[in-house]
Amino acid sequence: MTQDGTILSTAIPGVKRHATGKVRDVYDLGDALLLVATDRISAFDVVMHQGIPDKGRVLTQLSAYWFGQTRGVIANHLITADDGAIAARLAEAGAAVTDDLRRTLAGRSLLCSKATPLPIEAVVRGYLSGSAWKEYAARAKDGNPVDLWGVQVPPGLRESDELPEPVFTPSTKATAGHDLPMPRAEIAQYIGDFAAPVEEAALKLYRTAAEHAAGRGLLIADTKFEFGTVPGKEPGAFDLLLIDEALTPDSSRFWDAATYAPGGPQPSFDKQFVRDYLEGVPGWDKQPPAPDLPTEIIEGTARRYRDAYRRITGHELPPNKGA
Ligand SMILES: Nc1ncnc2c1ncn2[C@@H]1O[C@H](COP(=O)(O)OP(=O)(O)OP(=O)(O)O)[C@@H](O)[C@H]1O
Ligand SMILES: [Mg+2]
Repeated sequence: MTQDGTILSTAIPGVKRHATGKVRDVYDLGDALLLVATDRISAFDVVMHQGIPDKGRVLTQLSAYWFGQTRGVIANHLITADDGAIAARLAEAGAAVTDDLRRTLAGRSLLCSKATPLPIEAVVRGYLSGSAWKEYAARAKDGNPVDLWGVQVPPGLRESDELPEPVFTPSTKATAGHDLPMPRAEIAQYIGDFAAPVEEAALKLYRTAAEHAAGRGLLIADTKFEFGTVPGKEPGAFDLLLIDEALTPDSSRFWDAATYAPGGPQPSFDKQFVRDYLEGVPGWDKQPPAPDLPTEIIEGTARRYRDAYRRITGHELPPNKGA
């Protein structure tokens, strides 16, 4: 643990590490994975060397919340988010479960079914923002519909305008560097027969979540899902699962409906605040090492993540049992 209580890295002696992502440490428990969301934050695909207090717990608890809310739309990988059950499973797998380890993992861990991730990021957009707005603005010409990676979007829209229908605009899953948009015609080359069910599930998840968020005064501008496959009941069949994280400020742009004003960028509950700060750091070329983040940027970001949790769930983030 660092001085401000953030967790930047974890280790579970006796358990095999499956992967280390930009944000999560993933451990291999045979047919299950333990996803531990650290307090790391990345911007422009560069991981900062300071953590954001409570960020890992917000990502974990919000994902668990949404997995519960969307179970009727599609099955997901969550087995349990219960710290006691997770500790018991770790002990079974041969880990020495010390009090220190319990404190490190508290509130930030999800025990999940191990899946084979599909090699696309399933992006759904309800509003014109971010890279889609950039692309639209660059291509919009005299009253013609705009082709956004194979999806037709009507002319005359402003930045942050609502799209007539939510659109599915997946991107590649880059193992290093930036994800790139995937032209519609190429989706099946990446995921074959799963193209149609993934699109259907992603759009349905988006609509379900957007409706829930609207009830809390929030708009979901866009979001990214990951799907994976697990062997199904019939021999040779595979079932589709929603995996990774779901509808968090790291994977989604949430806007406040009360202050929504299309025609420009909107304040959001995610790391845009950090990105905006970094854009103003003279001379930083968006390559590691990242510049230091001032305390007010760290605190302001932490506040935004906690606000997202509170707005969506209707509750404050529970106190940190690991502190
Ligand atoms: N059920 C699952 N089965 C297999 N792999 C999974 C499952 N759930 C999540 N993963 C993988 O675990 C990793 C989670 O780590 P993390 O979110 O830090 O990854 P990242 O993709 O490098 O970062 P970012 O989200 O910033 O792009 C991802 O590679 C994700 O695909
Ligand atoms: Mg991820």
